[in-house]
Amino acid sequence: MKKLIAGNWKMNGDLASNEALVKAMLADIGTPSCNVALCSPALYLGQLQSLLKGSPIAWGSQDVSAQEKGAFTGEISATMLRDFECRYAIVGHSERRQYHGETDEAVATKAQRALNAGITPIVCVGETLAQREANETEAVVKRQLAAVIHAVGHCISEIVVAYEPVWAIGTGKTATPEQAQQVHAVLRAQIAAASEHPERVQILYGGSMNAANAASLLSQPDIDGGLIGGASLKAADFLQIVRAAG
Ligand code: PGA
Repeated sequence: MKKLIAGNWKMNGDLASNEALVKAMLADIGTPSCNVALCSPALYLGQLQSLLKGSPIAWGSQDVSAQEKGAFTGEISATMLRDFECRYAIVGHSERRQYHGETDEAVATKAQRALNAGITPIVCVGETLAQREANETEAVVKRQLAAVIHAVGHCISEIVVAYEPVWAIGTGKTATPEQAQQVHAVLRAQIAAASEHPERVQILYGGSMNAANAASLLSQPDIDGGLIGGASLKAADFLQIVRAAG
């Protein structure tokens, strides 16, 4: 299976800097041997569509509404994302779980909405530092993934999972390759038990992955790619991670 390197710009960028960043990436990316995607704020998806169409880089959103359509002011539906040819939608990022109160059930519904629109949800799971210290890591990530398995049924083979330990996000504290691999193996087994095509499901690592540590993380047997925050805002760093996945 090809690896996937997905950038998550979070709430960064503007028209001018996005264009400069994407052009710098496209100038140097060549023909990557992994899948590559950039997830921008929703407002800039049209910009990504025109900059990236026909290139080796796909694009996606950082969230999607759990509702299908109608009176939900401020929300963006999966079919709207489809209109802009999004290939991916991140769902359940820990920043959304933490700051927007997203529950496991809401995240699972979002994954379902994305799948219904032909968009691959990148479902984020991960424990906080307190949960890790209380030895709850496995239970937490399994509970988060179980909600999605319950909601999407056999379509579970069509999702991407991202293991993102909350304590490693934006902190510079990466999980060691062994720590990450341990959790990835747990998630792989859970998917294998629920899916008819577990070999299709990519499990990404996210949390301070950068140009220096990507190769050792990506060499683990159950790490199929990365979800990259900070380092996706720098073309050279991001491309180095893409090459490490090749
Ligand atoms: P980071 O973010 O790479 O900046 O730690 C990863 C993420 O939150 O997806």
